[in-house]
Amino acid sequence: KMIYYVTPTYPRPEQVPELTRLGHTLMHVPRIHWIIADDQPICSDQVLIILRRTGLPYTHISSPKPYVYRGSNFPRGVANRRAALSWLRDNVQEGVLYFGDDDNTVDLQLFEEIRNTKKVSMFPVGLIGDYGISAPIVKDGKVVAFFDSWPGSRKFPVDMAGFAVNMKYITSAVTMPFIAGHEEDRFLLSLGLKLEDIEPLADNCSRVFVWHTKTVKFKKPNLKMNIKKLHELPKYDSFVKL
Ligand code: UGA
Ligand code: MN
Repeated sequence: KMIYYVTPTYPRPEQVPELTRLGHTLMHVPRIHWIIADDQPICSDQVLIILRRTGLPYTHISSPKPYVYRGSNFPRGVANRRAALSWLRDNVQEGVLYFGDDDNTVDLQLFEEIRNTKKVSMFPVGLIGDYGISAPIVKDGKVVAFFDSWPGSRKFPVDMAGFAVNMKYITSAVTMPFIAGHEEDRFLLSLGLKLEDIEPLADNCSRVFVWHTKTVKFKKPNLKMNIKKLHELPKYDSFVKL
């Protein structure tokens, strides 16, 4: 089966290195289609160049967030994932869907595990919240509860990178809300997921094959430095205006 790896992304100085690292991981994965949903009014050239250089089958979608979500605390990557879902519904009948932020780190083993997802599979995600991990709790081969430092009145307190879904279940009823912190839970509820349907992976959720890594934000250059020197700077490909 094909894996559809859905990555929301947006321009910032860390974007090129994050996507380069992720893309170079995906290049080792057989039968994977990379969907990059770009938070921009037109698809950016620097993202396209990375996509093409991987040689992978890809889809590049322009999916800017609605204007109201500009600011600081807003649901991130939702317009992007919704656009990818709609593309998938229109173009793909079978395969496995997996959401991965552009800044995550993934072990190649994970892809082989999620490839056989029947409905929804789940597994631990490292470097999440106060506990340093978010993981389903498995008893006798079944998911019975969740270990997560922010339960937040969620039925499925999991991270976006902690589950994969068989495309068969991506019907028109499936959606993701613009509610920060509840994107995963509401998405899974819209699938009609029940606890007993969940397929635990990664040795009954005892191993970590994906991490919610974060890169330290780029520090703005100190413009008090010699202005003459600044004009002499070459134009770098990946330089994003601040
Ligand atoms: C965490 C989860 O890992 C996300 O899947 C979830 O969407 C997010 O929380 C949330 O609940 O808002 P976190 O690492 O805190 O994510 O956030 P980012 O990595 O900054 O953003 C998540 C994804 O959205 C990334 O792939 C990022 O490139 C993208 N994004 C972020 C945009 O497309 N536009 C933005 O303005 C910001
Ligand atoms: Mn992230």
